[in-house]
Amino acid sequence: AGVLAAVPAGLLGARPGRAAAAAAARAPFAVPLRIPRPQRALRMGGYDVYRLTTRESDVSIVPGATSRVRTFNGQLSPLIRAQRGRPVLIEQVNELPEPFSMHLHGGHVPHHSDGHPNNEVEPGGRRLFHYPNTQAGSTMWVHDHSHDTHAENIYMGTAATYLLTDPEEDELPLPKGQYDVVLQMRDAKVEDDGTFVWDPNGFNDRPVFLVNGVPTPYFEVAARKYRLRLVNTSNERAFVLRLGEGDEFTHIATDGGLLPAPVPSRVLQLWPAERQEIVVDFSRYPVGSKVELQTMVTYPGETPEVMRFDVVREAEDPSSVPEVLRPVEDLGTPTVERMFEMSFSPETGQHLINGKPFDVNRVDFRSRLGDVELWTIRNKDAEFGIPHSLHPHLAHFQVVDRNGQPPGPSEAGWKDTVTVRAGEEARIKIQFTDYTGLFMFHCHLMGHLTMGMMGQMEMVR
Ligand code: C2O
Ligand code: CU
Repeated sequence: AGVLAAVPAGLLGARPGRAAAAAAARAPFAVPLRIPRPQRALRMGGYDVYRLTTRESDVSIVPGATSRVRTFNGQLSPLIRAQRGRPVLIEQVNELPEPFSMHLHGGHVPHHSDGHPNNEVEPGGRRLFHYPNTQAGSTMWVHDHSHDTHAENIYMGTAATYLLTDPEEDELPLPKGQYDVVLQMRDAKVEDDGTFVWDPNGFNDRPVFLVNGVPTPYFEVAARKYRLRLVNTSNERAFVLRLGEGDEFTHIATDGGLLPAPVPSRVLQLWPAERQEIVVDFSRYPVGSKVELQTMVTYPGETPEVMRFDVVREAEDPSSVPEVLRPVEDLGTPTVERMFEMSFSPETGQHLINGKPFDVNRVDFRSRLGDVELWTIRNKDAEFGIPHSLHPHLAHFQVVDRNGQPPGPSEAGWKDTVTVRAGEEARIKIQFTDYTGLFMFHCHLMGHLTMGMMGQMEMVR
């Protein structure tokens, strides 16, 4: 009960439909986790060059059936590994029947490569994206930002993990190599015959959990420490994760990379588009143990499984979690204040920021590079119980407080998406330093974004 009390009210995607749940639950842990191999880069004059082709693909999700989904290079959850200081060029080739606008979520990238909806790649088209990789190491992801089809394109499978390493981080004794694992997780509705069902309003009926594209997989691990990079690519589903019987793990990183210090945790919230990284020490379990990762929902009694770790062998473990990970320097005193009121309009069905739906012809505000800004994000939907998040492009921010209370140590790092529950508010400090031009800010619950919950900000000198 103590742990369940930590589950937020108004959590979305709560109740798995019973009949549909049967499909995945019939045999959870029947399929091994897929570990994506990094995409191959062409090395050209200091750049790592990739081609990502977006297309419809038939993949196997439900054993014995195929599912028509949308992918990058034919894969669900592909992985790109980048290094700080080594820029990446990606040529996106769009073979989908819909426009696509590729966005690196968490990336500090120039406007022309940011996937602004004005820069959509039409079906049959292609476009070059430049990711400078001058920022600190972190786990990011790549997804569509087109005007009308982002929600469908993301839901149907186009989500790549973009793992940026950096030399300072590499020197830390954290688990590496095969013990450093990306777990891209999301919900979906998949019929027994493999049909991958897209229903924009169906967020309460997506009972299948996919981890790296595999339904409720098992993962054979050694009895030692692993670094797990959790990425929530769901359109609307929040995960509130716990391990085993509420066992302890170590929270080490969030959206913008390493926390200042590790935080021992037993429950972890992962809202849409967020990343959380943990170190789990499987040496605490005897070989032969099976440890479930579950997500809690708002009502007691139901904790559906997301995946399972099967401890199958002993292994050496030279890794450790240092007491200091990466200091986070306070941004200092803000000189600009802004308010973001998030609300739902039952009359129009639109989701609004400061009373307005997105308008591509409107710039909502201008920010001067270098200014430290204090933003208040207020969720006005107490009566509807709808959570919202705010995700500004181009910079990471620091959470100052939530409802007047300082954030816990697990929010002490650099964030790029902050979720605010119904009726609550959060304040953040942000400073844009990199590029001028037009960028987006929006709620990352995809249905809300589709229904208008987005604005534009222009960076000026
Ligand atoms: Cu995940 Cu506008 O972004
Ligand atoms: Cu929202």
